[in-house]
Amino acid sequence: MDFVISIDPKAALPLHRQVYEELRQAILSRRLIPGAKLPSTRALAQLLGVSRATVTQSYELLLSEGYLETIVGSGTFVCRQLPDELLNTTPIQAKSQLVNSSIPLSAYGESLSDRAFLRLPEADVEISFSYGRPAFDKFPIDLWRQLLSRHCRSGRNVLDYTYNSMGYQPLREAIACYLSRARAVKCDSDQIIIVGGSQQGLDLITRILIDRGDWVAVEEPGYLGARRAFLAQGASLFPISVDQSGLIVSSLTTDVIPNIKLIYVTPSHQFPTGATLSLPRRLELLAWAQKSGVMIIEDDYDSEYRYGERPIPALQGLDQANSVIYAGTFSKVLFPALRLGYLVLPQNLVHIFARAKWLADRQCSLLEQYALTDFITEGHLERHIRRMRSLYDGRRQTLVQSLFSYFGDKIEILGENAGMHLMVKINTKLSDDEIVQRAALAGVGIGAAYPQYLKHSPGGEFILGYAELNEPKIQEGVRRLAQVILIQN
Ligand SMILES: Cc1ncc(COP(=O)(O)O)c(C=O)c1O
Repeated sequence: MDFVISIDPKAALPLHRQVYEELRQAILSRRLIPGAKLPSTRALAQLLGVSRATVTQSYELLLSEGYLETIVGSGTFVCRQLPDELLNTTPIQAKSQLVNSSIPLSAYGESLSDRAFLRLPEADVEISFSYGRPAFDKFPIDLWRQLLSRHCRSGRNVLDYTYNSMGYQPLREAIACYLSRARAVKCDSDQIIIVGGSQQGLDLITRILIDRGDWVAVEEPGYLGARRAFLAQGASLFPISVDQSGLIVSSLTTDVIPNIKLIYVTPSHQFPTGATLSLPRRLELLAWAQKSGVMIIEDDYDSEYRYGERPIPALQGLDQANSVIYAGTFSKVLFPALRLGYLVLPQNLVHIFARAKWLADRQCSLLEQYALTDFITEGHLERHIRRMRSLYDGRRQTLVQSLFSYFGDKIEILGENAGMHLMVKINTKLSDDEIVQRAALAGVGIGAAYPQYLKHSPGGEFILGYAELNEPKIQEGVRRLAQVILIQN
């Protein structure tokens, strides 16, 4: 490489961001011309005296933003069409250029233009504690293939549009039965709409219920995907703290709060802390919502996984006043690429959601809906959940024991005996980014919890997903983490 990249290991900006900024500036100032080949991540890491993971992270970010492109077998190159060149064109131009490149974004579009919106791609590591991913190797893929091909062969039309944007009726019935058995949700199948994962459910809820300037109360810390959807619609967010019993509901009645329209909660397994909202707080929340005319969004993303204690009934089942929209997903119990989830709606909102779903994408894929219906009605879903519950319980225990034995009193484990991840607080002087970098250097991927905070994060908190990792990997991962974090602590 014939130019110098200057990075400062003592600077507050993480190293991968520094490398990213330097490369980006070099590209924009044409020190690196379109089509120029970049050194391999290993070579640049050696040149700069940083880890390969650091350079990989910077390259991946530049790739995702369109500054770089890869050509299989040849390497990484500066992209021939640069995004900022297009964006920087002046407004007074020929009409065709205006339309193509300088068209003002809508408020929604503007809200998505923030670079920080992108979650950094994870470094390629040997042991990844990334959260939210089930044990893919335990999914009964052969059975799933049989179900799919059964419907491909059946002659039933899996290729056409349907008139029902709410989803395949037998699937909605199967889900209604399952939810009433497993989660004490009270609903008829005609209150259920099948959506493309709970993220689409959140997006539809936001579009239908939120106007620019409306206030939405969210858990602090809380799920970033939901916050992003609310913000993109122009909502103002009001954070409500959580403790070991979940959302501190009393803040809603005792603190001075704005006029809230919607409150988003994860009561079964608060994301990311893992706390379960206690029954008295559930009742308190419902009473407040009813009195204040606020709609509650109950996101029950991984409620199937409780180890030991009985689950507390869903808020939706306790509600007497139609003040809850319940969101569920098959991403955690089956696999995320399926992109199937569901909303349970108050009756009076059903037809509006059906129309919004039609406008968004008309319908979810029929073939997968047929296969999923059989998977549920033939008993495979609950069998699979039982198996995974026992598997994840074992993995969780291994993780907890390993954390205590390697970190001793330098670690605090937060949350209940539930879910597919746990949150830890590490007592260290290292910054969160330093820990993530050191871990990556040791071949271990972990995520800091600070992006999940709307306001200030206390720091030192990490989310460790364990569902996908077998016991030896969990133990080895924790051993390596302790080794790189506890030295020079
Ligand atoms: C709390 C929570 N809700 C919702 C989702 C979205 O899941 P999906 O859109 O895959 O159903 C996630 C994904 O990780 C999540 O963590």
